[in-house]
Amino acid sequence: LPFRHVAIVVFGASGDLAKKMTYPALFSLMANNMLPKDRTHFIGAARSKYKMEDFHKKISSGIKQSSDQQVLSKFLEKCPYISLSAYDDGPSYQRLDSEIAKLESQSTGSGKNLRVYYIALPPSVFGDVSENLRKYAWHKEGINRIIVEKPYGKDYQSAKVLSNKLASLFTEEEVFRIDHYLGKDSVKSVLPLRFGANPFLSSTWSREHVQYVTVNFKEAFGAEGRGGYFDEFGIIRDVMQNHLMQWIILAGMERPNSLSVKDIHQAKLKFINDCRPVRPSDVIIGQYTASSKDPNKKAYKDDETVKKDSKASTFATAVLYIDNDRWRDVPFVIRCGKALDETRAELTLHYKTPPDSLFPSESGRTGTTFTIRDHPEKSHVLTATTKKPGRGFTVLNAPLSIDFSNPKYTDSYVPTAYEVLIYDAVRGDHTWFVPREEAEEAWRVWDDAIKNSESRNPLKYEYGSEGPKEEKDLLKQLGVEFETGEGRTVDVAK
Ligand code: BG6
Repeated sequence: LPFRHVAIVVFGASGDLAKKMTYPALFSLMANNMLPKDRTHFIGAARSKYKMEDFHKKISSGIKQSSDQQVLSKFLEKCPYISLSAYDDGPSYQRLDSEIAKLESQSTGSGKNLRVYYIALPPSVFGDVSENLRKYAWHKEGINRIIVEKPYGKDYQSAKVLSNKLASLFTEEEVFRIDHYLGKDSVKSVLPLRFGANPFLSSTWSREHVQYVTVNFKEAFGAEGRGGYFDEFGIIRDVMQNHLMQWIILAGMERPNSLSVKDIHQAKLKFINDCRPVRPSDVIIGQYTASSKDPNKKAYKDDETVKKDSKASTFATAVLYIDNDRWRDVPFVIRCGKALDETRAELTLHYKTPPDSLFPSESGRTGTTFTIRDHPEKSHVLTATTKKPGRGFTVLNAPLSIDFSNPKYTDSYVPTAYEVLIYDAVRGDHTWFVPREEAEEAWRVWDDAIKNSESRNPLKYEYGSEGPKEEKDLLKQLGVEFETGEGRTVDVAK
C-alpha cells in the first residue's frame, strides 16, 4: 500500500460492533500482513472514559482466544484510545487530529498519509461526527475516507437528509457505505454462478423457469442486550432492507456490462428501480415471547434493555415483486427472524415443474431448487430430480452440492466480510460498497411496509419456535415453502 502512514479511526470504539466485528477484523488484517505493520495505527474514539489497559482488555475479548498472544500485544500497542467529551465537541476532534498527526510525523514511510474514519454509531450522531471530522480532523494533503455503517438513516426521507449532509462535506469518492453482506463470498458468488460459465443456471434464471425465490434468514438467538438499538429499528431495518436486499439485488439484477464498479453499480440500481414498493398487506411481523422449555430464553420484552411496551418486530416475512421482464409476477419471499429454532441464511430459487414432465409431483410441490447458503455452512446446493435406486420409478430430488468448509476449495485463510470490506476501503475500491442513490432507493422499496408495520401489534411466537403460526397462511396463499428440495422424495403421480 503506497501510504506514508495508515490511520484507521474507529468511532463507537466502546460499542458492541467494534468489539465483535471491527477490531477482530483489524487484528486479522494486521496479523495476515495486509496492512503495513510499522506504519498503521488503529485509533479508538468514543465518549466513554477508559484507562488504556481496560480498553485493550475490552477489544481483546472480541478477538479469538487462540490468536498468537505476541501478535496480539503488538497489535494492542497500535491501538490508542481517545475519549471525546461529546460527539459535537470541536476541541475533542482537534485532540484527535493532533494525536493522528503525531503518529504520522513519526512514520518513516513514503507517499501520502491515509486516514480512514470508520463510523460505527447510530444515525442520530452521524451529522455531528461528520461535520467535526471534516472541520478538524480531515488531513489537508493526505487521503481521507469515511466508512458509514448501517442503519443508513431510518427511512427514505432521513436517508436523503443524511446523503445531503454527507455530500455537503465529502466527495462521493470519500464515502464508503458499508453493508457487510457485500463482503461475503456467499453473496458475491451469485455473480460467477450467474454470469460465469454455467448455462444450466443462467438460462433458467428467470420467470420462465423459476416459480418463486426465497431468502430464509433465521437466528437461534434473540436481540439480547441490543434493545437500545433494536427497539428503534426492528428487524426489517436491521437485516431485510439492507443485507437481504443486497443478496436479492445481486441474484436478480441483469448482467452488468463488465465487472467495473460503474457497471456493477448501474446494474444494481436498475434492479432496485424495478422493485415494486412492498405492500403492507404482504408483510407479517412478529415478536418473540419466552420459551416454555428453557428459562434462559426470555421474551424480547423481558430484556432489561427493551421498553416494556415495545412493539419492535423481531420477525418478518415479506413479499417483493420486481416489475421487469425477467421477474414479473415471481414472488421473492423474504423471511428473517431472531430467537427461532435454528440459525440459517440462504437464498433459494424454486423451479417450476415443466407441464410436460413425465414425473410430476403428486403433492403439487415444486420440483428442484438451487440454494446459496451462508449459514449453517457455506455451500451451494442444486437439487436434481432423479430415479431413486430400486424397482419402479420412484423419483427423488437429490442434492448436487459443494460445501466450502472442505479445505480443497480454499487457499488457506478466508477473511471475514469485515476484513474484506475494510481492506477494500483502505485500497479505495468502491465496488462492494453502497453508492448514494442505491442506499436511498432501497428505502423507497421498504418505506410504506416499515411504517405500516410500526402501527401494528406484532404477532407472538415462542423463543425457539419456527415463528408466528400466521406466517403459514401467507405462504399457503402464495403457494410458497421455504424448504429446499434436498433429500425430498417426490410422490410421482401415477
Ligand atoms: C447485523 C445485524 O448487521 O447482521 C444483526 O445487526 C445480525 O442483528 C447480523 O445478527 C447478521 O450477520 P451474519 O453475518 O451473522 O449473517
